[in-house]
Parts: sequence; C-alpha cells; structure tokens
Amino acid sequence: MAKRIRIGALISGSGTNLKAIIDACRDGRIHGDLVFVGADRPEAPGFRWATENQIPTFCVDYRDIIRQYREKPEQVPVPGPGDLEASISRQQIFPATASADRVRAFFTTRLAAERQLLAKMAAYPFDLLVLAGFMRNLTPYFIDSINTDLMHPRIMNIHPALLPAFPGIDGYGDTFRYGCKVGGCTVHFVDYGEDSGPIIAQKSFVIRPADTLETIRRRGLEIEWKLYPRCVQWFAQNRLQIERVTHALSGGKRHVRTIVRLLPSS
Ligand code: GAR
Repeated sequence: MAKRIRIGALISGSGTNLKAIIDACRDGRIHGDLVFVGADRPEAPGFRWATENQIPTFCVDYRDIIRQYREKPEQVPVPGPGDLEASISRQQIFPATASADRVRAFFTTRLAAERQLLAKMAAYPFDLLVLAGFMRNLTPYFIDSINTDLMHPRIMNIHPALLPAFPGIDGYGDTFRYGCKVGGCTVHFVDYGEDSGPIIAQKSFVIRPADTLETIRRRGLEIEWKLYPRCVQWFAQNRLQIERVTHALSGGKRHVRTIVRLLPSS
C-alpha cells in the first residue's frame, strides 16, 4: 500500500477540482490528505470546501500587491538580491521581444506574492502541490523552491484544453471559438513556461454541433474531476517517472523534452 502523501492546494475560483481531490482522499481513491488550501484572493468561493473539511486556509492577495506596485513600486519587497534577475533570465512566459518594463513589473509583483505564499506554506510540510484552478503563473523562484530535485517535480496543474493547444486563461473558450471538434483537459507538471510542463495525462471529449461554451465547460469539468484525482494517486504511488528524451525532428532540428512515463502499478 502506497504511503499517504501530504497535498497542498492553491485555488482562485470555485474549487470544484479541489473538492474532487478532497472527496477522493476521503473515499480512498487517493492515498493522501490535504494539508492546506491557499488562494490568491480572499473571496475565492472554493475556500468553502476547505472550511467544511477542517483544512487550514490562507490567502495572499495578489491584487493588493499589484496595486501597491502601481502606486509605490519601490515599496514592494522582492525576496533576495538576485532572485528577480534570476527569475527573469530563466522565465519562459514572455517572449524575448516583450517590453523589459512589463516583464520587470510582472516578476516583481509575482515574486513579492510568492515570497508571502512560501512563508505561509512553510507551516504545512507537503509532498505535492496541486494547482486547482489557480489563475496565476508561477515564477522560477517559486518553482525552484519546491522542486529541489529536477527528477521529482512536485507541482501539478490541470488545464482546460488538450495542451499544447490553447495554453492561457480560457482553454475551453479558446477550444470552442476555434471550432475544434474535440476538446479536453490536461494534467501536467509545472515548468517555467505557461502551461508548457511535462504532460501526465489527458482526456478528450467530442464537441457536437449543438454544444455551446456552457455545455463544453460543464462536460470538461466533469472529466477534470475524474482525471485530476487519478493523477494525484499516481504521484502518491510513485508511478510518475521523469525522463529526458532527445528527438530528431523533420528539418534536421533536435528537440529535447522532459516527459512523464506512467509506471505500471506494483
Ligand atoms: C478548471 O476548468 C481548470 O481546468 C481551470 O480553471 C477551472 C477551475 O475550476 N484552470 C485553468 O484554466 C488554469 N490555467 P475549479 O475552480 O472549479 O476547479
């Protein structure tokens, strides 16, 4: 029997994926327990699932920090000397052509917020951090603080599209507006880019002519609630193995990629 893992969660919204994971922990589909739920805004409705289940909660209000930066940028404290520069040089969210001021503002505010997040999370040791509708990009500073072993990433995310198609904030909306005939969701480990980390599992569904954005969102979420707990359980069972692979692509380029291999259950 796999050991019970300690799971931390970050949310922004209704937290129905958080609820699916809490339920799976309770009924034995996940050998683990939630040890905290954090959010980027105090009114996140998903806090209720934590409160109902006596799981500790905290919030770091990102909007306050962003507002403070607009008014008094010099008063927004970033973690340590060099952390801002190091994050900016390793990030893969903005292209090289992005305005330096914009990138600097983004990373200053995110690092300030993440410094507070990490301080609050330090009270609750955890094995796995799940992003359950957490609508904030994480920086290399935060990711590296958690992923101390590159071969054992510990931050998982669920995204409402079949990545690498439609990263960003509105996966189902983008899928629908593009006219896709198949939609789906992806669970992946988080890396320095936007929804670009190694894929753990995906599940698709057919989009019918009568479907609307609403029906696609609803059907997609129902699939998410099954897929995410399954991936968390694979992590608990130590079945997610990281591999670095190099492929030769057509055109002669080489492509190095980190992938996840699902090991058979023992
Ligand atoms: C889910 O559809 C999740 O895939 C998506 O937000 C929704 C959260 O719902 N996440 C992202 O878009 C992350 N980029 P929930 O709060 O009810 O779990």
